[in-house]
Amino acid sequence: MKVTVKVQRYNPEKDKKPTWQSFAVECEPGDRVLDLLNHIKWYMDSTLTYRRSCAHGICGSDAMLINGRNRLACKILVKDLTKEGGTITVEPIRGLKVERDLLVDMEPFFDAYRAVMPFFINDDPAPAGERLQSVEDRAIFDEGTKCILCACCTTSCPIFWVNGRYLGPASIVQAHRFIFDSRDKGSDQRLKVLNQNTGVWRCRTAYNCTEACPRDIPITELIEEVKRAVLYQKV
Ligand code: SF4
Ligand code: F3S
Ligand code: FES
Repeated sequence: MKVTVKVQRYNPEKDKKPTWQSFAVECEPGDRVLDLLNHIKWYMDSTLTYRRSCAHGICGSDAMLINGRNRLACKILVKDLTKEGGTITVEPIRGLKVERDLLVDMEPFFDAYRAVMPFFINDDPAPAGERLQSVEDRAIFDEGTKCILCACCTTSCPIFWVNGRYLGPASIVQAHRFIFDSRDKGSDQRLKVLNQNTGVWRCRTAYNCTEACPRDIPITELIEEVKRAVLYQKV
């Protein structure tokens, strides 16, 4: 089949603003959008710039706005987007500075991630063996462990678009993962960060984040749990 891939292009060294460029690409219905972008880069225009690594939905590096919705280019199939002769539009994710074409500056996203201390905190003397945890306690924070930090959620949140200082759903999911870990002792510090005016109270339950997540994490639900933890200052 043949489809048109309409890609947003931007080269800060010569363009005043982004423009669109269309490529007619031969493909199979089961190809992924990443295959199409690779075809364009390898055979049609080597200057096309985008980020990717694993190509299997694991590393989280190829989040893009595809046909108006945040998705991983390596997960979404052509047949799920269009038919023979149709068009697929590809733009950079929103709310982060575009460095070139589909490549955005992820630093503000990772600054917010670091701000919630996404690591295990427990200064108690290390036990002789493992820090044991019940199956039930492990299940409480299971959803957050599926996050691959792709930023599909944060960059689909309207609050983040207007206020880039909002920590965003991805960071709150990461905070949830540790706040609700029965072995962790760092909740007080995290809840303080999340109670600031850049924290959880910015969320207006728009649900865009939940709909955008390629790992089907119930993000809004987790945010609501974190809000309750912040409100009562305990888990
Ligand atoms: Fe991506 Fe989902 Fe993690 Fe957000 S919560 S960064 S959408 S995997
Ligand atoms: Fe934004 Fe998700 Fe809340 S889209 S407003 S973080 S529910
Ligand atoms: Fe790794 Fe798509 S390239 S998630």
